[in-house]
Amino acid sequence: KRPAGAPDAKLARPVTKVGVVGAGLMAGQFALLFARLLLVPVVMTDIDAARVDKGVAYVHGEVDKLLAKGRISPDAANRTRALVTGSVSKEAFADADFVIEAVFEELTVKKQVFAEVEAIVSPECILATNTSSLSVTAMAEDLKHPERLVGFHFFNPVAVMPLLEIVRAPKTDDAVLATAFATAKSLRKTAVLVKDAAAFVVNRVLLRLMGEVFAAFDEGTDAHTADNALRPMGLPMTPFTLLAMVGLPVAQHVTESMHEAFGERIAVSANLQALIDAGRKGLWETAEDGSQSVPADTLALLT
Ligand code: 3HC
Repeated sequence: KRPAGAPDAKLARPVTKVGVVGAGLMAGQFALLFARLLLVPVVMTDIDAARVDKGVAYVHGEVDKLLAKGRISPDAANRTRALVTGSVSKEAFADADFVIEAVFEELTVKKQVFAEVEAIVSPECILATNTSSLSVTAMAEDLKHPERLVGFHFFNPVAVMPLLEIVRAPKTDDAVLATAFATAKSLRKTAVLVKDAAAFVVNRVLLRLMGEVFAAFDEGTDAHTADNALRPMGLPMTPFTLLAMVGLPVAQHVTESMHEAFGERIAVSANLQALIDAGRKGLWETAEDGSQSVPADTLALLT
């Protein structure tokens, strides 16, 4: 059955090579998926060789884990490793037909990346953004071919989260959208078409919930109490565990975009900002016995 709002699948174009801009954790997770399930070459780029090497090494490490668990055959592991390569130059995208970015969550940065990519790729190459909350319409504004841009939003951890939000901007072409849906299907994701609105759907819901935890936390509720308050509601992870996985700066950027769009309905947390400014990766420290506590120097940062 065709997903709601998806164009005719017959319009989908083949994807034979994927380019990934940004070799961070999110990018590495979906680079692996593209190589494993689309069976096409995937080239990752970043601003320096160290980042590129780290990204490729992450993918190879994940392949090793799948192999050790018996989830893939030795042949598939070798093939997947060989398919994922890195380059410091976007020239490596010259023959790609699907380029996806997962760079810093800032509109000007993403626009700059797409301008550079557009100068290299063919006019038919699809450009996709994994943005969590930014306007895909604004991102397409200065493109020579705005019809080729589509939102392709994965969730963390990519390997296990089944959902993918596909975002259509006003100029997104039907063939581009059909290719995005076909690609999502090949990646075994459940794709939903969402409107290009701040934080789309999932983050909009998630941040309303997280926002209340932040607010309680900012108002002086003990962090442990605020975080655990939602446990009985059957959440798979407490908000601050989820935050550490997603990354505090990403969560704060999503919150800020939503605050801009929805005003007081979404509170930007001063305490969360204090943790980010101090370079903290999360709130909790986990001891060897699995028990969690907030380190004293982290507590000292909080108001
Ligand atoms: N990377 C790769 N695989 C992972 C993983 C990761 N980070 N975390 C878990 N897995 C795998 C495990 O290896 C395991 O695989 P296996 O069956 O082959 O051994 C499988 O997932 C299940 O893991 P667990 O046994 O640890 O299962 P849990 O029951 O603890 O579930 C979870 C793990 C699915 C991550 C669950 O805790 C969960 O759903 N958490 C909430 C995640 C969530 O809400 N994500 C959305 C965040 S918002 C976002 O990403 C949007 C962005 O824009 C900010």
